[in-house]
Amino acid sequence: MTIGERIRGALVALAPLDPADAPAWERWLNDPVTTRYLYGRRGPPDSVASLPELRSWGRQALADPHLVAFGIEELGAGTVIGNARLQLWAWSRARFSILIGEAAHRGSGQGTEATALVCRYAFERLRLREIVLDVDQRNVPAVRAYLNVGFVPGRGDSMRLRPEGLREVAPKGV
Ligand SMILES: CC(C)(COP(=O)(O)OP(=O)(O)OC[C@H]1O[C@@H](n2cnc3c(N)ncnc32)[C@H](O)[C@@H]1OP(=O)(O)O)[C@@H](O)C(=O)NCCC(=O)NCCS
Repeated sequence: MTIGERIRGALVALAPLDPADAPAWERWLNDPVTTRYLYGRRGPPDSVASLPELRSWGRQALADPHLVAFGIEELGAGTVIGNARLQLWAWSRARFSILIGEAAHRGSGQGTEATALVCRYAFERLRLREIVLDVDQRNVPAVRAYLNVGFVPGRGDSMRLRPEGLREVAPKGV
């Protein structure tokens, strides 16, 4: 699944996932700096998914009732800079993941805002009761972004957020 209409923040917009963006996904996933903390204890896959595989993943994601996938666009230009996902679980819970793929867009508050927008959508529109994630503690921007939004550390590398914990994030430079 994906969203029907864009959800705008101050810096980024959540957009419907578009499999036509697969060339950008391929570029992002081929950048080892971007992906260094993505695969957790499993480690990186032997080979990065090909363009046809990524297009196919995008089409499957749109059809998957247990997944909500979002494109993330820079607000002014409308360029896609990343994506985010909610893997829906039983009992109104979901696992969150995010990738700001365009390196030039990292470190200016866009990942934090996109995380907050997805979490707000999850609680207000999907009526979820808890969002969880796993994060490598060396991934400082990710840990800080999640703390800013209100996630609290759980066991091991896990973090979780409930509706009452979601914080407003003040966009930088706006
Ligand atoms: C993790 C990610 C989503 C964060 O988004 P971002 O736009 O880069 O981060 P933000 O600009 O919103 O900054 C978040 C916090 O990290 C800090 N930060 C950003 N870049 C940093 C860096 N290189 N070193 C240290 N701190 C940094 C910011 O100052 C901010 O903290 P503060 O508000 O407390 O000052 C993004 O970097 C990303 O997609 N990385 C690659 C994929 C990935 O690791 N995904 C997450 C897997 S769990």
